[in-house]
Amino acid sequence: MRTQVAIIGGGPAGLLLGQLLHKAGVETVILEKHSRKHVLARIRAGVLEQGSVDLLREAGVAARLDREGFTHSGVYLACKNNSFRIDFKETVGKSVAVYGQTEVTHDLYDARDGSGAQTFHEVSDVELRDVDREAPYVTFTHDGQGHRLDCDYIAGCDGFHGVSRKTIPGNILTEYEKIYPFGWLGVLSETPPASDELIYANSERGFALASMRNTNLSRYYIQVPLTDTVEDWSDTAFWDELRRRLPVATSEAMQTGPSIGKSIAPLRSFIAEPMRYGRLFLCGDAAHIVPPTGAKGLNLAASDVHYLHQALRLFYQDHDMTGIATYSHRALRRVWHSVRFSWTMTNLLHRFPDQTMFDQRIQESELAFLKSSKAAQTAFAENYTGLPF
Ligand code: APR
Ligand code: PHB
Repeated sequence: MRTQVAIIGGGPAGLLLGQLLHKAGVETVILEKHSRKHVLARIRAGVLEQGSVDLLREAGVAARLDREGFTHSGVYLACKNNSFRIDFKETVGKSVAVYGQTEVTHDLYDARDGSGAQTFHEVSDVELRDVDREAPYVTFTHDGQGHRLDCDYIAGCDGFHGVSRKTIPGNILTEYEKIYPFGWLGVLSETPPASDELIYANSERGFALASMRNTNLSRYYIQVPLTDTVEDWSDTAFWDELRRRLPVATSEAMQTGPSIGKSIAPLRSFIAEPMRYGRLFLCGDAAHIVPPTGAKGLNLAASDVHYLHQALRLFYQDHDMTGIATYSHRALRRVWHSVRFSWTMTNLLHRFPDQTMFDQRIQESELAFLKSSKAAQTAFAENYTGLPF
């Protein structure tokens, strides 16, 4: 079997890259470890930067997003029962779209079906071979049969636990990591959102976030110790704790209901350099992970895909290697800016186990300055709505 670009991973990064390359006339095959149903069952953050929305439109997969997505021109930050709004339009003239990642993935799979390009689900034993030579290939098992896929390039879009990053030799790869000493307990409920825009809350009991998926589907998070399990949290216990952490007016007006989804996720910052080794490119979570505080995960996957699709299109259409040679540098420059912003928001809004009263007052002072300074709000808005690609 042969293709031009082998894509490992059928999540948002792999699917979006496949769709953009298809539109550029570049042939791809996607190898995905899980079933389509499994991939589509994942619940992930739903805030899209303007650049990500533009890229989805360029890929021809934004029709439902434009119909069903919400446009948010601001966000609320809350501390000690005070909340204030950062206006994206007023500060940077931009907005974000709120549209679940699951829906983005649905739309990308529908486009993949329409493109006729090949996708193998439930593959196993994926191995990347000769990535540092002129003729790389991938071996894998599907339906009990061994396969070999010869290709020009391999896009490692297989997430943090994938095989692609591990293919890069240890003396070439540098990994940077920060593990946060808490997790996020997330709840999905068929209730109207507590607010018209997202609320990020710093409370002395810990972080809380009020988000949404649509007018009758809310998404909430509270910071919890890493030792907690979802079994430790009944719906009642969750709603009571969330109410303690959100502003009183919001809590009093909030409608609660049975959770239809409940999970705990750890938080980490992780970056692998370089994002290219020979004919292998790393893209999305395969190369970097951010704490969800800045809603950057999906958006960083989109900017990686933007740079990689441009590079491969330039190669196949103009036999120009410039994009390929500069991919890692261009992608990493934006990755580090988003990693920094996500780290900053995480430090600003969470209670750390070893935090002192001084640390708490510093957080409160930072939030008070953000509330009072147009310049600080502009810098926040510039990062939250997305730095240019
Ligand atoms: N072979 C084939 N597929 C694999 C392998 C493998 N060895 N290992 C993992 N995969 C698949 C996973 O099943 C998953 O569907 O690769 C896909 C990677 O998708 P994501 O983890 O969603 O990563 P990415 O596409 O980069 O999207 C990043 O999605 O996970 C969120 O928070 C993340 O919002 C961010 C966005
Ligand atoms: C979500 O809606 O799931 C969400 C929104 C913003 C975040 C994280 C998660 O920062």
